[in-house]
Amino acid sequence: MQRLLSVVGARPNFMKIAPIVSELQKLSEVQHFLVHSGQHYDEALSGSFFSDLNLPKPDVNLGVGSGSHAVQTAEIMRRLEPVLLDWKPQMVLVVGDVNSTIAAALTAVKLGIDVAHVESGLRSFDMTMPEEINRKLTDAVSTLLFVTEQSGVNNLKREGVPEEKIFLVGNVMIDCLLRHREAASRSLILDRLGVRRNGSACLPYAALTLHRPSNVENARTLQGILTAVGNLAKDLPVFFPVHPRTRKQIDNFGFGSYLADSRTADRGVIPLDPLGYLDFLSLNAQATMVLTDSGGVQEETTVLGVPCLTLRENTERPATVELGTNEVVGVDPDRILAAARSVLNNPKRQPRRPPLWDGKAAQRIVQILREHRQSA
Ligand code: UD1
Ligand code: UDP
Repeated sequence: MQRLLSVVGARPNFMKIAPIVSELQKLSEVQHFLVHSGQHYDEALSGSFFSDLNLPKPDVNLGVGSGSHAVQTAEIMRRLEPVLLDWKPQMVLVVGDVNSTIAAALTAVKLGIDVAHVESGLRSFDMTMPEEINRKLTDAVSTLLFVTEQSGVNNLKREGVPEEKIFLVGNVMIDCLLRHREAASRSLILDRLGVRRNGSACLPYAALTLHRPSNVENARTLQGILTAVGNLAKDLPVFFPVHPRTRKQIDNFGFGSYLADSRTADRGVIPLDPLGYLDFLSLNAQATMVLTDSGGVQEETTVLGVPCLTLRENTERPATVELGTNEVVGVDPDRILAAARSVLNNPKRQPRRPPLWDGKAAQRIVQILREHRQSA
């Protein structure tokens, strides 16, 4: 019997683990144990994804909650160690680049348990990003490194990782999107927002997400972005599901006046609560453009063929720029507005898929995990 334990904790982890769990559930010879660190705990950032994605209830929730980087990471390690000692997995699976990812990887490897990292090798080359630190350290202690795009393979090789540890398998986040696209098409969010009436074609609108500390914790940067998006919103409504970190900062900086009243507005920058997966997928799929600082959304818009403006100075996902619909526009308000206007003048994009973004990444990962066990 193969014993695998996966650790998830924050919103983008859930869509990455869902296709893997679904593949593992098909195998009677694999026992799988799912741990939720509790890094995200609100229904809108955690619970709703378990129902939308048919994820089984976690076997354990460590309940760590919010805290500084050191407190959160240390607390996950402290609470995960006894679970690993008790359940004795042969391999711990971690996904992405959040604090739960590095905390789990470090706890496992120090107990002599192998770690498999899904979404390995991505690099923004910006060590001020907490995620860049998490990615590099997680890769450094992992035995199996599952990579989404060729740049990841190149980065790992450059860092001296032996080739036999690196597997270009495709993108589990895209597996998740392809598996749920049809269910998302039944979402009523667009009717609720008033951009689709009686099933007819949608009115133009943009979607916005923001949560990177570099954007939302700096008053000038956040104000610049909200000003640019406010100008764009004179041409079409901008729907803005607001991450709690961002909500807090908008309140702290007194920037509420940049936002419309979501109860009555049909124009302006319209704030919404963070959306469930199917609603958000539906919103993105029909958008004229998406403006974001999210990692995952850059990938999803590539496959959806929706123009994406990334409000950052860099991306760790260059395939979305080279092969996809993504443009990294930075945070200068004039540049954001110029890029958005250029999309309005030329809105059509073709859906593009980087190699192996075909919905079968989870199958490949599970196959490699089984072969690794047999050769152990
Ligand atoms: C985390 C990840 C980031 C990821 C993002 C996805 C790290 C270092 N950052 O950032 O890589 O892109 O998740 O959304 O792991 N909060 C709530 N409810 C919750 C969770 C958080 O209100 O359920 C609030 C708290 O005030 C908390 C703040 O959001 O302090 C930030 O949460 P945290 O998990 O530390 O970082 P994120 O910004 O969510
Ligand atoms: N997402 C969602 N609802 C939202 C915003 C994002 O379901 O209101 C999904 C999005 O489709 C993608 C994932 O959350 O699958 C991306 O997570 P996030 O942007 O929080 O983190 P990042 O990818 O930047 O680490």
